[in-house]
Amino acid sequence: MEVRVSAPGKVHLIGEHAVVYGKPAILAAVGLRCHVSAKAADSVCINLKDSGTKAEFGIEEAMDFAAEARSVWNDGRQRNDFSALFAIMKKDNISPLKAMVGTVMSELKPEAGVSLGISSEIPVGSGMGSSASLAVSLTRAIAEMNGVRLSRERNNEIAFRLEQLLHGSPSGGDNTACCYGNAIWFIKGSPSAVEPVEMKGMRLAIVNTGEPERTTGELVSAVRSLDEAYRNPRMDELERLAHRMRDSLASGSAENTGRIFDKAQDLLAELGVSTEKIDDLVSDVKRAGGHAKLSGAGGGGIVLCMHKDAGKIMEIAGENGYMFWETGLGAEGVKIETE
Ligand code: MEV
Repeated sequence: MEVRVSAPGKVHLIGEHAVVYGKPAILAAVGLRCHVSAKAADSVCINLKDSGTKAEFGIEEAMDFAAEARSVWNDGRQRNDFSALFAIMKKDNISPLKAMVGTVMSELKPEAGVSLGISSEIPVGSGMGSSASLAVSLTRAIAEMNGVRLSRERNNEIAFRLEQLLHGSPSGGDNTACCYGNAIWFIKGSPSAVEPVEMKGMRLAIVNTGEPERTTGELVSAVRSLDEAYRNPRMDELERLAHRMRDSLASGSAENTGRIFDKAQDLLAELGVSTEKIDDLVSDVKRAGGHAKLSGAGGGGIVLCMHKDAGKIMEIAGENGYMFWETGLGAEGVKIETE
């Protein structure tokens, strides 16, 4: 029997980076999804359908590797430096998957191995939660294949452990948005606070400026290394803006939301996570009468744009050779695909 699962990508409407410091973030699920199929096998077989990469290893090997990665993670947490973990994960493109599958297997203790087929519509490292969406759908697919009906909470909890191995000290917002879907108000904690966000007719144009050179973990570390006296007031301002955005989304005022985007973008640029390409795109969008901000860790990746005429954003994206999507927000969370 084959089980097929999918989970959406996400965007940060506001609060990326600030969420790492206990501030609220608003995230929404988008229509691009990661798809994982799973069927029983003797070992662990992985087929990355988009790149054609295939790998096979034993169940014990996967669990041992996950345990090793977890111990390097524990060490990194104590020292507040995850560079050794990132070095392991960057060794090749199968190591992160081996650690992820091994972690799920250690959590669920399944009797059989698994053959996994993975494909994703979500551009990698773009700020759209490609890894979180994979973590959520992979966990659910392996569980379902073994007849384990995970609650959404447990699905999310395991996915968060996978995200920690990939990013060091993530807030958990990304996996929560991909697991639950719709739009959420998220404050990290034990447990994290998650509330639904009301959004009236919110549509976005998303432009991808290209894969960042630095990983999410590295960008989070770079912000952490800023002087607190410089960083903290900007985080406080992002918190105030998050509250204003929640009201603005509920009232459906696109103009207000757009203005908050612009302020958030300025603050993210001051925190050093924007790029020249993003700054140029944001200027072009503003000159055309719209609003724009980066979304996710930054350092490249997507820019959320708002304009009464999405065609204007499409033109600007086209002139720069960037990918563009026009999308509603609030896609369904992780689900079993029946067809
Ligand atoms: C990454 O998508 C968002 C960050 O805030 C990191 C996190 O929340 O873990 C930069």
